[in-house]
Amino acid sequence: MANYDLLLLPGDGIGPEVMGEVEGVVDWLNGQTQGSFNVESDLVGGSAYDVHGLGITDETVEKARQADAVVLGAVGGPKWESIPYEHRPESGLLRLRKDLDLFANLRPAICYPALADASSLKREHVDGLDIMIVRELTGGTYFGEPKEITDLPDGQKRAVDTTVYTTSEIERIIRVACDMARKRGKKIHSAEKHNVMKTGVLWHEVADRIFSEECDDLDCHHILADNCAMQLIRNPKQFDVLVTDNLFGDMLSDEAAMMTGSLGMLPSASLGAEIDGKRMALYEPVHGTAPDIAGQGLANPIATIASFGMSLRYSFNMGEAADMVDRAISNVLESGLRTADIMQDGMQQVSTVEMGAAIKAEMNKLAA
Ligand code: IPM
Ligand code: MG
Repeated sequence: MANYDLLLLPGDGIGPEVMGEVEGVVDWLNGQTQGSFNVESDLVGGSAYDVHGLGITDETVEKARQADAVVLGAVGGPKWESIPYEHRPESGLLRLRKDLDLFANLRPAICYPALADASSLKREHVDGLDIMIVRELTGGTYFGEPKEITDLPDGQKRAVDTTVYTTSEIERIIRVACDMARKRGKKIHSAEKHNVMKTGVLWHEVADRIFSEECDDLDCHHILADNCAMQLIRNPKQFDVLVTDNLFGDMLSDEAAMMTGSLGMLPSASLGAEIDGKRMALYEPVHGTAPDIAGQGLANPIATIASFGMSLRYSFNMGEAADMVDRAISNVLESGLRTADIMQDGMQQVSTVEMGAAIKAEMNKLAA
């Protein structure tokens, strides 16, 4: 039986609570026969700052590099609002993405049938929704230089962020998205703003070349990112795979996530290139630290459990176990259990721990 090293980085706010439920699922799998996990936990974000004075230590980055996969909860919160910018909680997460070269961020937006009425869109638009957003994660506005605030002679300040993309950075993310589309509905949209941005012009050019030279088998489209935001609300089911840059992907994935009922439902995988048979990988929910509900047992652990589920699929080649996690989540929702964020009339509200326990109980049933 294969044995894997899993690094858990719970982070801040609701991170530790939802990660507790992932640990439960890992324990459950360790009692099964498909594969086993050595689990180690470490600090990231504000919790790392409190102990070490920075968002992540070199040692933790090294542990992440050595691990077969990393599962991260969430980072940030009002407590760290006034610490130096370079040490803010988000710096820990951004450093992991950059240092491990996790350029491909997969954010599936799936609407579980049981939750179609929890969406702010009408049921007919979201029932059966299944979009895969492929967000470029190590370039663009997040990492471009210069990135600074300088003083002007007249006493004003001047702030700059720089959006940079090279041909190869665009090529590799477009190819990941095309491969995704091949395994799914064979349709792909590439979103940028070539009408305003030079990075958009290059993005469009590179995507177009790959579409025409390598993607005869796919239905390929270009779309302006602002129009894409509108089309996602107007008719989300027209999309299958949506590939876009780092900043647009940040925004469009929050939008897509909310259509599925709650930000508390959406998992993500951040993957690097495969080198010598090994692929760096970090799995995290799309949601944040929700400091307003932290520590109250109100958080929804589904996105983080589903993120671990994605690791079973993409890092551990345990597709069957991944399917089981997804089915267990779906069945528990069908049975009427809801955390506060997705609570509806006639359903039964449960705590973070109760939701985790229900998912494990369902996995027991599915495995029997
Ligand atoms: C996300 C988050 C992060 C981002 C933050 C926490 C740095 O919003 O993963 O979408 O902006 O990428
Ligand atoms: Mg975001």
